[in-house]
Amino acid sequence: MVPKVIRKLYRVPRRLRHVRDYRVIHDDYGVLRSVSHLSPEQRMITASARNYRARSEIALDVASNYPGGDYFEFGAGSLNTFRTFIAAFDLNGLAARFTDTRFYAFDIFGNPDHGRGPPVEDRTYFEHWRNPFDVAAPLASLEPYGALKDRCVIVQGYFQDTLSDDFKAMMRREDRKIGFAFLDCNIASSYKFVFDFLLEVMRPERMFIEIDEYFEEHKPAIHPLYQEFAAKAKQRYNLDSLYMRNAGAYGALFCLMPT
Ligand SMILES: C[S@@+](CC[C@H](N)C(=O)[O-])C[C@H]1O[C@@H](n2cnc3c(N)ncnc32)[C@H](O)[C@@H]1O
Repeated sequence: MVPKVIRKLYRVPRRLRHVRDYRVIHDDYGVLRSVSHLSPEQRMITASARNYRARSEIALDVASNYPGGDYFEFGAGSLNTFRTFIAAFDLNGLAARFTDTRFYAFDIFGNPDHGRGPPVEDRTYFEHWRNPFDVAAPLASLEPYGALKDRCVIVQGYFQDTLSDDFKAMMRREDRKIGFAFLDCNIASSYKFVFDFLLEVMRPERMFIEIDEYFEEHKPAIHPLYQEFAAKAKQRYNLDSLYMRNAGAYGALFCLMPT
């Protein structure tokens, strides 16, 4: 029997009851409460909020053991997870410790017609993300992050255009390293392109990598692309890919560690 005082602590105030339906899955001492009273839309929002919660935990885990270097998010539209990592970085006092770290956000940011356009077979996918720039890249939402917003680099365009030879040359010239790469780009062609890019610019040093679609039954699947990437990282940089944890519904977090 749970003591009365603890039961009281778990009770949600009446004035907040309508809010919790949208954001939190409540439990009674570990047993999830029924959600049958929620509409399908409310259930979807609540379930996806739970995935974002997992991503927040990951951001905090990574920031609390950060190896330094930049944060790279591939598929950063909406800037949700992007902002999450900046907050986790700040919370752990890393702004003063890693004064050179930048936060790179790569995406078409709502414009499927950008640059050379998408690979023909992916046009439908990218049309799905068509949006005004302010919606896809809400820059005003970076304001509350204070001085760290000046370290954000928003790179609009297809990875196939923006992760160019010039960009790689800049990374080498400025001696930039990646501390955490978050790949949230849905489709195999984008994942493959980013993995190849990373293999060119990474170093034989510890870094974190999060793959959002790792456990999804995609066709073609993402996990073999990651396995191939990890094998090359071992071969070229002597890095071991260590699985750390599940990242929400189907994502996975890894740490690449020197042997
Ligand atoms: C699931 S959304 C990202 C959501 C974001 N990480 C968040 O949580 O706020 C996936 C994004 O990947 C982007 N994307 C996928 N492949 C891309 C490519 N080859 N070049 C640029 N953007 C790409 C899409 O435009 C889309 O905005």
